[in-house]
Amino acid sequence: MSKKPEELRSHRWYGAHNLRAFGHRSRTAQMGFDRSDYAGKPVIGILNTWSEINPCHTHFKQRVEEVKRGIWQAGGFPIELPAISLSEPFQKPSTMMYRNFLAMEAEELLRSHPVDGAVLMGGCDKTTPALVMGATSMGLPFIFMPAGPMLRGNWRGEVLGSGSDTWKYWDALRAGKISEADWQEIEEGIARSPGHCMTMGTASTMTSAAEALGLTLPGASSIPAADSAHPRMATQTGKRIVDMVWEDLRPDQILTPAAFDNAIVTVLALGGSTNAVIHLIAMARRAGVPLTLDRFDVLARRTPLLADLRPAGRFLMEDFYYAGGLRALLARIPHLLSLDCLTVNARSLGENLAGAESFNEEVIRPVGKPLLACDGIAVLRGNLAPDGAVIKPGAAQAALLRHTGPAVVFDSRADLAARIDDPDLPVTAESVLVLRNAGPLGAPGMPEWGQLPIPKKLLEQGVRDMVRVSDSRMSGTSYGACILHVAPESFVGGPLALVRDGDLIELDVSARSLNVLIDDAEMARRRAAWQRPAPHHGRGYGRLFETHVTQANDGCDFDFLEAGAPTVEPDIY
Ligand code: FES
Ligand code: MG
Repeated sequence: MSKKPEELRSHRWYGAHNLRAFGHRSRTAQMGFDRSDYAGKPVIGILNTWSEINPCHTHFKQRVEEVKRGIWQAGGFPIELPAISLSEPFQKPSTMMYRNFLAMEAEELLRSHPVDGAVLMGGCDKTTPALVMGATSMGLPFIFMPAGPMLRGNWRGEVLGSGSDTWKYWDALRAGKISEADWQEIEEGIARSPGHCMTMGTASTMTSAAEALGLTLPGASSIPAADSAHPRMATQTGKRIVDMVWEDLRPDQILTPAAFDNAIVTVLALGGSTNAVIHLIAMARRAGVPLTLDRFDVLARRTPLLADLRPAGRFLMEDFYYAGGLRALLARIPHLLSLDCLTVNARSLGENLAGAESFNEEVIRPVGKPLLACDGIAVLRGNLAPDGAVIKPGAAQAALLRHTGPAVVFDSRADLAARIDDPDLPVTAESVLVLRNAGPLGAPGMPEWGQLPIPKKLLEQGVRDMVRVSDSRMSGTSYGACILHVAPESFVGGPLALVRDGDLIELDVSARSLNVLIDDAEMARRRAAWQRPAPHHGRGYGRLFETHVTQANDGCDFDFLEAGAPTVEPDIY
């Protein structure tokens, strides 16, 4: 132990002999706590993103009690602080609009309360980056407690995966391959337990990345929410955070450039979501690590995809857990990781991987038999994306990775919805579908519209993939030759704004290029005629968002939230 009780941050609230401290103590007594319950103990803030409309976090109501159990046992004083839930299936236009909102809330909850350390309870897509971003900015010791994936879905004995199978069977329904009755059965079988999406979507990607960063207890991110190992992990998390406070183990000791490389390699080896690119850049910059898109491309060239998980592969997170989980996967690739990185349990990543083994070589493949040798994510540039765009080559039909075709342009999501299934739409399998005004400012909130639907008439011909380009994001559970995060976005005058129907668009993933085949003079003519649309929000949070959100290649954080200025402690008198 390096800290003394009088050195605890909470001591300034509870320990002083003044009028305000009297108030803090009398009001704690009002809540039924005796002085001996908290005096001289680390106060642990538990940021709980439970809500009655977030199915991924339903178990948090119980799980928070298990976290508290651990905190009490280790001699801490737990206080549960509810935070906005960011319910991926329900909140519109996209939880991406609110990631920074939760990040701010997390930071300010920790700053304004008598908190010495924190447990962050999250898992559903944006909650992981948001909580980590906020807690990193605050700088107190914290542990991330991942929600865990839900159990495998089931329909007539067929395994169903979150998201991925929704898209697959929706296309099957539209193509007349399954009935409305089948579709309703699938609706009732695809999500059978608490927990986040159990494909390698954004949730599993980001909780795994958090573990690789050293922010969870070892193995925590792979445990299904419904498994009894999950509450045991929650209790251990509660125990550990108390010691972390005494040890003063802070995020700046954990979140180094090497730790972010470990997280990127992990995402790539898992076949993780493209959303990780945006989130990890934002998280890194909160920690003062100047991560850019190019680092993803560099690491992708040497990282094999070893986890055979949907949407890139066949299995689900429950299978991954039984196969040994993330520790087993990382133990396969020690040569690609910085093993000396410190983690929340005060041990190195390498020490935490000791003894890990894979129990199923199909789910967690050996390095010599990868699902994909490299290029889990590729960063593209060219005259259509001067600041970059991303694609997940493993989720696309290989033949499309080098493709030139005429653009079919949609100006908005509404335009797309109105025309995509029109039998007269001049579109063929060779066309390149373009959606613009779907980025951070254009939509706004950068929703997951990047997996543009295949036109119905082409679906009926058996077409299952096409090259699609947008300034939008794509759900981590999606697949297809979808070029995403085009920056700068069309709404701010990125070249995507200037593309017209019939322009030839050339994609070459091996050359990392994305170009529209029109000359500079024509581009300049079109640019001169272009006018920036008016902002969507005149007031409120939407206005704050539109005024300060950065572009996708910069992580879509608010410009004033990135690292730089020191954390200001409140005057507590
Ligand atoms: Fe919560 Fe997918 S809906 S993780
Ligand atoms: Mg998602």
